[in-house]
Amino acid sequence: MAVFQAAPGTRDILDPQSARWRALIDVFAQVAGSAGFGEIRTPLFEDLGVFLRLGESSDVVTKQMYDFEDKGGRRITLRPEFTAGMIRAFVQHNPALPWKAWAEGSVFRYEKPQKGRYRQFNQVDVEVLGTADPMIDVEVIALGWQFYRAIGLTNVRLVINSLGDAQCRPVYLAALTEYFTAHLGELSEEGRATLALNPLRVLDSKRDQDVAVVVNAPTMLDSLSEEARAHFDAVRAGLTALDIPFEIDTRLVRGLDYYRYTLFEFVADSLDSAQNAIGGGGRYDGLVAELGGDDVPGVGFGLGVDRILMACDAEGVFDAPDRSADVFVVDTTGGLEALKLCSQLQSAGVRATRAYDNRSMKSQMKAADRSGARLALLVGSNELADGVVTMRPMRGHSIGDPVGETNAVQRAVAREQILIEVEKFLQ
Ligand code: HAM
Repeated sequence: MAVFQAAPGTRDILDPQSARWRALIDVFAQVAGSAGFGEIRTPLFEDLGVFLRLGESSDVVTKQMYDFEDKGGRRITLRPEFTAGMIRAFVQHNPALPWKAWAEGSVFRYEKPQKGRYRQFNQVDVEVLGTADPMIDVEVIALGWQFYRAIGLTNVRLVINSLGDAQCRPVYLAALTEYFTAHLGELSEEGRATLALNPLRVLDSKRDQDVAVVVNAPTMLDSLSEEARAHFDAVRAGLTALDIPFEIDTRLVRGLDYYRYTLFEFVADSLDSAQNAIGGGGRYDGLVAELGGDDVPGVGFGLGVDRILMACDAEGVFDAPDRSADVFVVDTTGGLEALKLCSQLQSAGVRATRAYDNRSMKSQMKAADRSGARLALLVGSNELADGVVTMRPMRGHSIGDPVGETNAVQRAVAREQILIEVEKFLQ
């Protein structure tokens, strides 16, 4: 028989990692909720056209889309990111401005799988549509920063840049093209190909040959229009006012083509440089109009959940929450009492578990020990006849006696009192 494995670039996330995952999303929901963001859940797949707007020089568009024709002959793609789908939803539903939305879930990119680089990975994302105020850029960046802090990460750097606006960007692109063209022979073959598509992306090249040319390339910051400069200065002032440290990297361009003005990335220095970008985003004025909406400005970020958890491992923070059972029910009368007790306790929110298959008392006690439960409830034939349950504290735990001394003595409790006594014990 064929034995299947998860497809390349995909992973199964099992408990306790999955519990940690859920806890991480809960923290994000809380941080984003406090900042006035509401959750949006968009479809996993969209019309291909929605994502073609990410830019024709972007690898995400040219090489990495999971696109296919569905049975109705539609060109469909699995979402490679959240932004374009959220804008499609915004244009479709026309919510009040400014619209602040967050999302989380899987995105798909056909990349070469490696550590920290998957074909199905998860992002948490925020987008704000409807204001060009640089203060919202700051708020968005601050939200990401706060989230990393909330989960305990400290070794994270914020890097920012500006990509200018409709006025100064073409001027800069021309200067950049002129510079790279003058140094064409020194660029790598890939660098030359990228230049033909988008000279900005050459700045992003990691190839030594290109890096040597890029070092002396003109920077966007030198060519910013008055308006773009004022926007960038306001973002810097806002970050400074919030005591959020940042670095300016004039070579930061990122992999998607839609950015204007502010651009930023969060870098985890605890990870290898190939996967140390744990989040990034920026402003994308113009994208909403390209997707058929009004000319509404927007800014947002996407943070990579898989990589964030890797960074948490590297920093030894954000452990899996303790989800071991509170109570283990040992029943040697056939199992029905354990069934009823567990059901009663679970309904009251107590984490209760038990053994199966009618095992011996000794074997069930061993299982109780392994479960990490603080308390065992024992039901044998004597207990059943007397209408009681024996409460036995597990190793390292005790039933406090009225004098306040701790002891490990077990005691019998009337069956109808058991929930109250268990809850008292667990307090
Ligand atoms: P992005 O930089 O393509 O931006 O992705 C955001 C984050 O997703 C990255 O910083 C990284 O942590 C994670 N990531 C990207 N590719 C992979 C992969 N193959 N495996 C694991 N993690 C990965 C966007 O997606 C934009 N939509 C962000 C944005 C929102 N800009 C404005 N609004």
